[in-house]
Order: sequence, then C-alpha cells, then structure tokens
Amino acid sequence: MDIQQIFRNNQEWVQEKLKMDEKYFENLSEGQNPDILYIGCSDSRVTAEELMGMKPGEVFVHRNIANMVPNTDLSAMSVIDYAVVHLKVNHIVICGHYYCGGVKAAMQSEDLGILNPWLRNIRDVYRLHKDELNSIKEEEDRYKRLVELNVQEQCLNVIKTAEVQRGYRDRHITVHGWVWDMHTGKLIDLEIDFEKLLENVMEIYHLK
Ligand code: CO
Repeated sequence: MDIQQIFRNNQEWVQEKLKMDEKYFENLSEGQNPDILYIGCSDSRVTAEELMGMKPGEVFVHRNIANMVPNTDLSAMSVIDYAVVHLKVNHIVICGHYYCGGVKAAMQSEDLGILNPWLRNIRDVYRLHKDELNSIKEEEDRYKRLVELNVQEQCLNVIKTAEVQRGYRDRHITVHGWVWDMHTGKLIDLEIDFEKLLENVMEIYHLK
C-alpha cells in the first residue's frame, strides 16, 4: 500500500467537492447537525455513510468490533451521551452484518487474549438465546441468527442508558436494529418489536 496515494486521492476529492460547491468545506466547518447515530462494525468491508447514501455531516458514527454497546465501554457510552444530549439525534441505529468476524470468533472456543472480554459480550448474547440458537441445525444459519440477536441485544443496551430513556420521553428517539447483508449489499431492517422487548426489560432497567 502506497500511503502517499491517499494524499493524492485526497487532493482529487477536495477538487471534486470544490467543483460542486466552492463553499463546501467552509460550510462543513461551521458545525454538524446529524439526525442519526450509527453504531456499526469496524470491518473494512462495511462502510457507514457509503452504504446508506449519506453525506458528511449527516451521520454521527461509532464503530468497533461487532457493533457492541457494553455499558462499561467509556467510548461507546460517551458517543451515545454526546449524540443524544448535545447533538440531539432522533435516530440511533445499531447495524450488524452477516459474515462478521467478531461474531464468528465468539462462536469458537479459542483463547484470543485481550479480545476475550470483548467477545464475551457476544457469548453472553448466545447464552441469553441459547435455546433458539441451538435449535438451528445449519451452522451458517446459526451464525446469521447470532448476528441478528446481537444487534437486538445491543439495541437493548442502548435503551438501558439513562440518556436514551430521557430522550425517548422528551422527543421519542427511535432505536433501529439493522443488518447489512454483505453477500447482496442490501440493508435489512430487523423490525425489532421494541415495545414487546421493553415490556420484559424495563421493569428492571427503567431509570427516572
Ligand atoms: Co463485523
């Protein structure tokens, strides 16, 4: 990889943007007002803005291995707080993807050092949904389902935060669980029934 090529690409990109709008960067530097917080996987094949057709300034992005929202992760928690309290986003998206290496690794028993505590969050998702997952015969299908259930559990982790609960009461923030199918390029809305899920968990996680 020729790192200098990146700077040449950047020069071209700057010229392209200025050709379309000579105030493009001036406007960008005035501030951001995104309406969406996107939490996705760090996987190099999974882009955030590109697959959604969104432009710079429109999406606040957080990415980590397997799109996780652990409640002790200062980075994820700060991103959510900043997006909800200061940027006042109305939508929070958790976007997982099939063929996720993080989810795959969590399905195996290998000791992966510092990755163990991170992957354990996904193993916890497996444990919560063990009966459903173990009833799926094909490993490929089980893998896909764990990707989906992981998205669902991370959506719940988002909802467990006080900021989001307050935001929901004040202005009805919507949380979305999506999966990107790398094999077709299509974005899939898991249409998670949050009202139903929340009935089960809010008794425990409700914060005033
Ligand atoms: Co991934």
